[in-house]
Amino acid sequence: MTTALTRSPRRKMEKTIHQFYLCEKGIFLVVKGKRPQVSKLVFSTMVISRRMAVNPLRTAVLFSLNQSGASSVLASRASSWWSHVEMGPPDPILGVSEAYKRDTNPKKMNLGVGAYRDDNGKPFVLPSVKTAEQRIIARNMDKEYSPISGTPEFCRHSINLALGEGNEWVENGLNATVQGISGTGSLRIGTNFLAVFFPGVKDIYLPTPTWGNHVPISKHAGLNVKQYRYYDPKTCGFDFHGALQDIAKIPSKSIIMLHACAHNPTGVDPKPEQWAEISKVVKEKELFPFIDMAYQGFASGDPDRDATAVRMFLKDGHKIALAQSFAKNMGLYGERAGAFSLICNSKEEAAAVMSQLKIIIRPMYSNPPITGARIVTEVLGDPEIRKQWLVDVKGMADRIITMRQMLRDGLAKEGSSKNWAHITEQIGMFCFTGMTPQQVERLTKDYSIYLTKDGRISVAGITSHNVEYLAHAIHQVTK
Ligand SMILES: Cc1ncc(COP(=O)(O)O)c(C=O)c1O
Repeated sequence: MTTALTRSPRRKMEKTIHQFYLCEKGIFLVVKGKRPQVSKLVFSTMVISRRMAVNPLRTAVLFSLNQSGASSVLASRASSWWSHVEMGPPDPILGVSEAYKRDTNPKKMNLGVGAYRDDNGKPFVLPSVKTAEQRIIARNMDKEYSPISGTPEFCRHSINLALGEGNEWVENGLNATVQGISGTGSLRIGTNFLAVFFPGVKDIYLPTPTWGNHVPISKHAGLNVKQYRYYDPKTCGFDFHGALQDIAKIPSKSIIMLHACAHNPTGVDPKPEQWAEISKVVKEKELFPFIDMAYQGFASGDPDRDATAVRMFLKDGHKIALAQSFAKNMGLYGERAGAFSLICNSKEEAAAVMSQLKIIIRPMYSNPPITGARIVTEVLGDPEIRKQWLVDVKGMADRIITMRQMLRDGLAKEGSSKNWAHITEQIGMFCFTGMTPQQVERLTKDYSIYLTKDGRISVAGITSHNVEYLAHAIHQVTK
């Protein structure tokens, strides 16, 4: 198969080939010389089609050029621009779900995914959201584009939920708030803005560990990622002293990322008095707080209580960046509704920041999706639906808190002598169990219980029907 290509004198090719192109007419070579030149047609399509099929042609070209010393990357370009692209690693959480789906054990459990499930293990659409949807449909609304920053009503309701109705920052026009593509997109807008406009050091300090996506989001935006201590594996709790020590060493005028509540992946939150200390050190060091609030209401069941840290930081005089998500607290996972806000010093500053946020958003996706934003606006804007939502969100949080207690009790009933207090002390969707990768592996292999290797379980995946089985399995692999 290579004869057609190697017919030309090999030595001559070694010296002259710079690059080659495959086109309809055949193969052209770009030859090296004083000036790179395109050669005359080297192998015509006629010769090619007479002598070889397309794939053998590619093989022959690669073979021939490798023989002649030309780079195989260049050679492969002739038939594909992307053959040098290597397969990336699978997403660790999606990998867990895939393995779970393949398992035929009727007792299997998926504790990997971070989405709420009801006590029958089924996805849950909030009654308040259903009512809001029906009202929106009845209004027969159009599908016109949303403004670049989302609708003003959506933005106002979102920031007021975080800072409290009638708060002085919104009242005085000091917030620049835009709709984002859920929490992730809001973080992305925020990190992008900081990468361009932050006047301090473009380093962002993330807790160790943190939500996996914080790292690539920050890096893609152009910030340098650094860390501060957060979780103490010895206590499965908050490393308060480690965190304070590390924060105190951060060079001033850097950015610090804080999880407002229900820290992902550990479920470990600072207590209010610890938040007060953190706020003080952040202030002394002149750090800029970027607060990620993906679980407001979902942690304790009370959206005001879950916003404690955000409101405390503002009261302490910090000017914060805030990313919000309605994925968990309204169950709007796929609707992608979220918000990004910057709290500014003056109305004028807020207006300028707002204009630049729009300039950042415009080339990314032009304008945000409308349906989720309409639902959020309806839920928060209609007093009756809002009341129902507060019941719904409390119901979800309470079910999770109950499952934590049942798991801890179940382990005690199994006779486990280990201290499992952290299961109930941690809060929110996730529990960092403290299990080793080997124990996790046994849990999956012997009991068909799927979770990430770091021992994190999504408590939302536990039900009153499977909690006993889980307690038994955890005890068996940890005793
Ligand atoms: C800490 C944290 N931030 C942000 C998000 C963003 O989620 P979404 O983009 O689905 O709103 C998540 C979701 O798991 C999270 O855990």
